[in-house]
Amino acid sequence: MILSSNKQIDEARQGEALITKGQGTRKLFLESYGCAMNFSDSEIVASILDGAGYSTTRNFEEADLILVNTCAIRDNAEQRVRGRLRDFNAVKKKNPGLIIGVLGCMAERLKSNLLEEEKIVDLVVGPDAYRDLPNLLQTVGEGHKAVNVLLSREETYADISPVRLDTNGVTAFISIMRGCDNMCSFCVVPYTRGRERSRDPESITQEARELFEKGYREVTLLGQNVDSYLWNSGKAKKEMSEEEKQSGFTFAMLLEKVAGVSPDLRVRFSTSNPKDMLDDVLHAIAKHENICKYIHLPVQSGNTAMLERMNRGYSREFYMDRIAAIHRIVPEAAISTDIITGFCGETDEEFKDTLRVMEDVRYDFAYMFFYSERPGTYAQKKYSDDIPEELKKSRLAEVIKLQQKHSAERVREGLGKIHRVLVERVSKRSEEMMSGRNSQNTVVVFPRGELKIGDYVNVLATECTLATLIGKVV
Ligand code: SAH
Ligand code: F3S
Repeated sequence: MILSSNKQIDEARQGEALITKGQGTRKLFLESYGCAMNFSDSEIVASILDGAGYSTTRNFEEADLILVNTCAIRDNAEQRVRGRLRDFNAVKKKNPGLIIGVLGCMAERLKSNLLEEEKIVDLVVGPDAYRDLPNLLQTVGEGHKAVNVLLSREETYADISPVRLDTNGVTAFISIMRGCDNMCSFCVVPYTRGRERSRDPESITQEARELFEKGYREVTLLGQNVDSYLWNSGKAKKEMSEEEKQSGFTFAMLLEKVAGVSPDLRVRFSTSNPKDMLDDVLHAIAKHENICKYIHLPVQSGNTAMLERMNRGYSREFYMDRIAAIHRIVPEAAISTDIITGFCGETDEEFKDTLRVMEDVRYDFAYMFFYSERPGTYAQKKYSDDIPEELKKSRLAEVIKLQQKHSAERVREGLGKIHRVLVERVSKRSEEMMSGRNSQNTVVVFPRGELKIGDYVNVLATECTLATLIGKVV
């Protein structure tokens, strides 16, 4: 599937209400928007609130507490949340005791202003303050509004065992770091998620081991910039001396450590920043069969002057050198990307360079967006958001069209080959079929037979659609 517009990606990633088996007497409805990190954070929130007597429900009409874990990356992500709050308002009118809270990046961005802008909100909690939720709920219970948007330099929630929500019992996210220090000029994340800090590799591996023992067969290691992961006795990277950096535990080491949990545990990761993705990580991927051959390497733009305005820290040449390194060291890897059209000052020539990079790389998959100015970012303060919306959108349409062609060609290249697939679910199209993904992250569909979710199978691909391989078990 190609997530082809801002709207679609928000829809595709929108959380459902989630269910846990907690013994709590009060009911929590928890809905997540945005990136995988938010879904992972919601599992931490559910765990903290499980301890405070809340179990989750899928029906917000029966909830005592509604929490929305929000995204602030583009304006339309925020508008969706505001629309959702209006749905909840109707329930609150019937049940005045209902508590409504906003978590995540929008909470962090707007802080207590959110209480004024959205009168029905009782509680505003930023991404580093979830441990405080039980206290904050008590304050709300006493009839006050409550806000905690303090960002932390240390918090990684390393000791909290997430409650796995909405799970197929086979694939899970593990957060390995928090925050981002990159300051891409268009991006609000460094402001909403604070400074970059890495989580203790022991606690990460322990979490992977426990998941494997419970039957999980794939973990995705999450961070805004995983290649920048560095652990040395809990220090933030910015506070490490050169020596401490040299002797630190790197992402390549972490990949190998987690891959060592079991050859039957697949390891994925997201997201790689081109400026930090060095060959050591690629060698680690090549060395272990169970580290998936799939790299998400957001380019954003194919033009060096534009990349400079974006403050991405690499040129077009550097990016293409990283692509060459992937082809050299992990030749079978699939590569995906993120692209923004219509960023400040984007000329026709600059835009064409983005299309050229797409032609050169032929990405397997892409997340594509038009630029949305975010308050407080460098771009908002220093550059003019001068590309008319029409042009932003027509450029986006061009990018999407080209990517659809490349994606379809890439999928077709899988025909006639045997793919090792982790069985993840019964296919949406037919009860008689199962579906999973190959190492390259392409969805593969095959007859159900005696297969169980969590098995590995070899599938010979005999047919395909635009985004899916279909085949038989061999
Ligand atoms: N490093 C992060 C990036 C998070 S944001 C990660 O782990 O994925 C995801 C993508 O949203 C970015 O790569 C970028 O393509 C897009 N994006 C970020 N800010 C944006 C903005 N202001 N307007 C449009 N797209 C944006
Ligand atoms: Fe945003 Fe750039 Fe970090 S896109 S999340 S500031 S790597």
